[in-house]
Amino acid sequence: MTLKHKVAVVTGGSDGIGRQIVLKLATQGVHVAILGRNTERLTAVEKEANEAGSPKAKLYVCDLRSLSMIKEVVGRILHEFGGVDVLINNAGIWQKKMPLEELEEGVVDEVIQTNLTAQIHLTRLLLPALKKQKEAAIINVISKSGVTAQEGQTIYSASKWGMAGFTEVLKTDLHGSHVRVASVYQSGTRTDMFMKTGEKFSAEKLEKFTDPADLADVIVFMLSRPPKIWLHDVRVEQ
Ligand SMILES: NC(=O)c1ccc[n+]([C@@H]2O[C@H](COP(=O)([O-])OP(=O)(O)OC[C@H]3O[C@@H](n4cnc5c(N)ncnc54)[C@H](OP(=O)(O)O)[C@@H]3O)[C@@H](O)[C@H]2O)c1
Repeated sequence: MTLKHKVAVVTGGSDGIGRQIVLKLATQGVHVAILGRNTERLTAVEKEANEAGSPKAKLYVCDLRSLSMIKEVVGRILHEFGGVDVLINNAGIWQKKMPLEELEEGVVDEVIQTNLTAQIHLTRLLLPALKKQKEAAIINVISKSGVTAQEGQTIYSASKWGMAGFTEVLKTDLHGSHVRVASVYQSGTRTDMFMKTGEKFSAEKLEKFTDPADLADVIVFMLSRPPKIWLHDVRVEQ
């Protein structure tokens, strides 16, 4: 896909991997709708993306746990950008490692809603617009936890295996259409995702993790292949 002047929607664009995806797309001349909750971080990324070369980078405050907010933001994006070519489902939260019975009950719904239900709704609502384009793409940034069993990660893994299943069926359903679908299964990446749950990782451990900017390069590479080449699944590990 030729990226210049395409319109991309990036969830979780305010921080970590999503922020890097937004900035890399901006350097390719992509119009970007940046979704997140934190207005301060979103404002900073919006400014950086416009300075990095995006013809139009715009923030959208959207708590993905709210279906009414998702619907409202989808309506605004389609009105303000006139369409969408690329959807990057990236937003997500982690779950502290622990036995299932010790997990606070609220964590179950929060993780499933953010990592799975919201991405399904957003995709469902944007699909008619994606189908209108001559070429379009959906990339789901999942996790190694969507293909392997990670100890103490029942709910996080359930959300990611759910995304893996959702993605596989979407690929089948959209086969032969102009909408290509791909999944990314990455291992530890150096962002604040773990710290946000109160988990502390040593500096040595974090140092071994993938740099989010390198992962964003992989995603831009996947999107920018010639029309006859599509990378369906990419596993990125150290
Ligand atoms: N870091 C890793 O080691 C790693 C490994 C494998 C997979 N992943 C996956 O990669 C994706 C990105 O993770 P990351 O490491 O970049 O995490 P991060 O740095 O913590 O960023 C998470 C992003 O998701 C957004 N988000 C979280 N909850 C949201 C909600 N309810 N509504 C809207 N936005 C919400 C955050 O927005 P606000 O800041 O505005 O709240 C933020 O932009 C996630 O799906 C994660 O599961 C990460």
